Formats: sequence, structure tokens, C-alpha cells
Amino acid sequence: ENDIISGLPLRNKKVLITAGPTYEAIDPVRFIGNHSSGKMGFELAKEAAILGANVILISGPSNENVKNSLIKRIDVVSAEEMYNAVHEHYTTCDIAISSAAVADFKPSEVFTDKLKKKDVELSIKLMPTKDILASLGKVKKNQFLVGFALETSNELENAKGKLKRKNLDLIVLNSLQDKGAGFKKETNKVTLIDTSLNCLEFQTKSKTAVAKDIFNEILKKYNA
Ligand code: CTP
Ligand code: CA
Repeated sequence: ENDIISGLPLRNKKVLITAGPTYEAIDPVRFIGNHSSGKMGFELAKEAAILGANVILISGPSNENVKNSLIKRIDVVSAEEMYNAVHEHYTTCDIAISSAAVADFKPSEVFTDKLKKKDVELSIKLMPTKDILASLGKVKKNQFLVGFALETSNELENAKGKLKRKNLDLIVLNSLQDKGAGFKKETNKVTLIDTSLNCLEFQTKSKTAVAKDIFNEILKKYNA
């Protein structure tokens, strides 16, 4: 084994990370998406690699790039594709972090032809996607499972609810109230909540620094 990697805290560990948005097809040329850049997930992948882990980064459409021999990137488009890719790697991973902004709904039917322009209202029927993270919580064995919560109100309460409901070991509350935080931004403001519902609030900082804070906390709890 490489001498440099052998002294690192996550050497020989497999870390699974989801990142970015998902796109849900309406017709061959249109989709429902969201503003996630994938930046937070890519920063988490880089930090995991710095700590010596073998990283599986499963990303929806993103302009982010990463070049690191410890990071294997798998590109997906829809929530269903992400679900399948995640489950292929979950059973063998040690730590899983769900930072993707997975679509909650997808069109109930995908039109095979491009929808034509008309001068009347158009309704598109939507159905729920599978909750990837909740499905991981259900089949969790020894994995340390980390989720995100994106909230605009009742932040702490909602995040704690997600932690319990999805059987997580840690949840990262993403505060959208802060002007410097969230989608398309270089910075984030997070609060980490553990299974005892202890809250650790951080200042607004770069997503690189946020990724380090998150892994500091994971290492403390994972080795405990
Ligand atoms: N998540 C997921 N699959 C989904 C929806 C969400 O894996 N279909 C994950 C996200 O990656 C995140 C966590 O679940 O780690 C919480 O996502 P969030 O959107 O904050 O919460 P939801 O459970 O989707 O509920 P809501 O959007 O209604 O607040
Ligand atoms: Ca959601």
C-alpha cells in the first residue's frame, strides 16, 4: 500500500457520496430540475480523498470537475438512475453521504414526442420519486449514514424529523436563511445534528471548509 495513504484516517474505507441535482424528463427535450450545482458533494468527495478514502461520487448533471485517483465518479441523470447506482455500491461502503438535491417528483408519464406549443394551459401530472436516503436507512447495517436537510422554516425541528425518519447517524442542516448559503453559492451555513439531537452550529464559510467540518464530526463519531 502507498505509504502516504496508509497513515490517513479513512485509508481502506469506502465512502459513497451523492451530489448535484436530478433531472426528470418531461419529453425528449425537457426536464424538471433544480438549482443545485453539485459543489458541496464534490467538496465532500475531495475531502474524503484527502483523508485517504476510496470515494464513489454519484452525481447528477453538474459542471463540477474532480481529478483524483481515489475518486470514482459515476454520472447519472434521474432520481431513479441515482437510486440504482447508489444501491449498487451501498452494501460495501463504510460511510454514505447524501448531498444530492434529488427531485421529489417526476412526470407520471414521459411524452415520447416533443410537446407542441398551444395557446391553452398545460398541466403535467407528477408522481413521487423514491426517497434514496430513506431506502439506505432501511437497509443500513454498519454504514455511517449522513443526510442533508434543506429547510426554509422550522429548520431544526424539520431536520431532526428527517434524521429520525430516515434512520441517519448525522444530518447536515443547510440554512437557506443565510444570504451566503446554498444553491450556486461558494459558501454554506450548516448545523450538524447527531442522534442525541445535539446541534453544532457553524458560521458561514466556503464549501471546502464546510466539507472539512462535516468530516471532522464524522471521524469523531465513526471511530467512537
Ligand atoms: N433525498 C433522497 N432522495 C429523495 C429526496 C431526498 O435521497 N428522493 C435526500 C437528500 O439527498 C437529503 C435528504 O434526503 O440528504 C433530505 O432532503 P430534503 O429535500 O431536505 O428533504 P425531503 O425528505 O425530500 O423532504 P422535503 O423536500 O419535503 O423537505
Ligand atoms: Ca426534497
